Amino acid sequence: MKKFAGRTAFVTGAGKNIGKEIALAFANNGANVIVCDYNADNATAAAREIETLGVGALVAACDVRDRKAIFSFAKEAVKQFGKIDFLVNNACGSAGLLNKLSRFIDAEPETLDFVLDTNIKGSFNCAQAVLPSMIENKYGKIINISSIAAICGLYDRVDYAAAKAAQIGMAKALAMEVGEYNICVNCISPGAIERNGVAMEHMTYLGKNGHSGTPKEIADTVLFLAENDYITGQNIIVDGGRTLGPGSR
Ligand SMILES: NC(=O)c1ccc[n+]([C@@H]2O[C@H](COP(=O)([O-])OP(=O)(O)OC[C@H]3O[C@@H](n4cnc5c(N)ncnc54)[C@H](O)[C@@H]3O)[C@@H](O)[C@H]2O)c1
Repeated sequence: MKKFAGRTAFVTGAGKNIGKEIALAFANNGANVIVCDYNADNATAAAREIETLGVGALVAACDVRDRKAIFSFAKEAVKQFGKIDFLVNNACGSAGLLNKLSRFIDAEPETLDFVLDTNIKGSFNCAQAVLPSMIENKYGKIINISSIAAICGLYDRVDYAAAKAAQIGMAKALAMEVGEYNICVNCISPGAIERNGVAMEHMTYLGKNGHSGTPKEIADTVLFLAENDYITGQNIIVDGGRTLGPGSR
């Protein structure tokens, strides 16, 4: 029997790249998956691929900022699959999505709202939507996909770095509140991870022989946390050594 047979994973931003890899990893291990992505075509395509693995897939084609829609899909998922065991807050947005990357001093308030709402309010919405099911079943894992931008900063992305750091703070404080229900809350902070199959060498600098990481390396870390009942409130950095100091030989 597969290790997550009978379990259900809610994965946001699951239409492509890291989120899709995470969704497929859960499905490959027997879990049903709620494929949440505001790109309906990508979400549907990912869900069809997941169904070929012999598990259930529910397309949640909505924006994580849309609290009403997120709650409604969580309700639908519980109706279809009985419960929600895992939540991965992976959907993200930097000002780059709006072509508005800029120095902080020039950032428009609307852009700041967009980045904070997508990354942190989106994570709040999804966590509040799935927690009743996790609490009822006294089982759950919530995993936020943060970024090393939260640890070491990132030029032209003060809003993104702040929102990603907020995801880490959220994980720590929420872990305290829900531990009594056997729910773990953690973060993963990736370094430069290839996107659309394209490496991000220019963002890598040090470590891992100068290569960027792969979505699979993040999905493997998600599965590791999904299986562990004693790690909670932590942030696991998966960056090939990018955030290590200069060191010396
Ligand atoms: N790729 C990297 O180098 C890297 C590095 C550090 C952290 N991360 C983090 O990993 C996660 C995934 O990154 P990626 O590179 O795969 O991103 P991506 O941009 O390739 O994919 C993001 C997915 O989320 C969806 N999405 C975006 N905003 C959404 C919203 N508001 N509601 C619903 N769906 C939404 C998009 O449609 C897309 O399918 C993000 O949280 C990102 O911050 C990525």
